[in-house]
Amino acid sequence: MAAEIIKRGGLAAFPTETVYGLGADIFNEAAVARIFKAKKRPPDNPLIAHVGDVDQISELAREVPPAARAFADAFFPGPLTLVLKKSHRVPDVATAGLDSIGVRMPGNETASEFLRLCGVPVVAPSANLSGKPSPTTWQAVYDDLNGRIDCILRGGPAEIGLESTVVDCTSDVPVILRFGAISLERLQAVVPETGVCKQGEGEGEAPRSPGLRHRHYSPKARVSVFSGEISGKLPEKRAFIGLNKPSREFESMKICQSAEEYARELFAFFRECDRRNVEAIFCEAIDEKGIGAALMDRIRRAAEK
Ligand code: TXA
Ligand code: MG
Repeated sequence: MAAEIIKRGGLAAFPTETVYGLGADIFNEAAVARIFKAKKRPPDNPLIAHVGDVDQISELAREVPPAARAFADAFFPGPLTLVLKKSHRVPDVATAGLDSIGVRMPGNETASEFLRLCGVPVVAPSANLSGKPSPTTWQAVYDDLNGRIDCILRGGPAEIGLESTVVDCTSDVPVILRFGAISLERLQAVVPETGVCKQGEGEGEAPRSPGLRHRHYSPKARVSVFSGEISGKLPEKRAFIGLNKPSREFESMKICQSAEEYARELFAFFRECDRRNVEAIFCEAIDEKGIGAALMDRIRRAAEK
């Protein structure tokens, strides 16, 4: 059903292990353009193409360098997006005019089956209204996009809860553009020279990941990052998420058992805080190793206002 909608040029949201995506047939330019409208997404922010089969990568990329091949062998299907030089078949609307395309093969069973039934690569940004936290449940997709898209393929809550690691493989040395569940250490175990992109280097230089320029992951409440004790005067409607129970009282509190659970719960917690009109959300800082690097990246972005 959802795959039929894609084949007929419609928009279908679907679950993946990272967050829910909003899909369209990459070769249908009108459908791809509708994604930007439905999400109110700035047109200069490129989309990721999702495949159900590694063979489809050759329809999307004109070149797969050895590093990208090694990452795909090691981590596909999984929470990783490879930025490659795009083939002429990929319409400019999908890549916001860039000469590259992000390619990802999700590991989630429902996503794989859906993508295989679609038979074409499916471009999909996170299925939220632009600027809101990414949706980790179908209900969050419904809250943001009901009436603006054609269907939601309902699955369970996303297993990871943060968006995929994005790695640019178009130049000699691969660089991380966005942190995710596949950590820098795991990428370096496959390609040791892998680095991290430093945004803002080189005056006037085009940013390598346009999406990171836009505001992201923001609940309405003010977000603060802290470690240790929370001191000072606090607003009454305040919330806490972290690994250790704080000494002060909070109206809503989420104590997570692991960094993985913290990552999985963060965006849903932000949304719940908005529903309760929380004024301030306190997020406990954690070690930036493994999923911790991606988690702290998202929290810091949400705190930037
Ligand atoms: O986990 C994910 O990646 C989810 C699920 C649905 O797959 N998708 C997702 O898409 O997070 P989106 O559109 O919300 O974020 C895509 C990010 C943006 O920061 C965008 O700028 C970057 O990937 N990106 C996409 N194509 C790119 C390209 N050709 N070059 C550089 N950055 C690119
Ligand atoms: Mg997004």
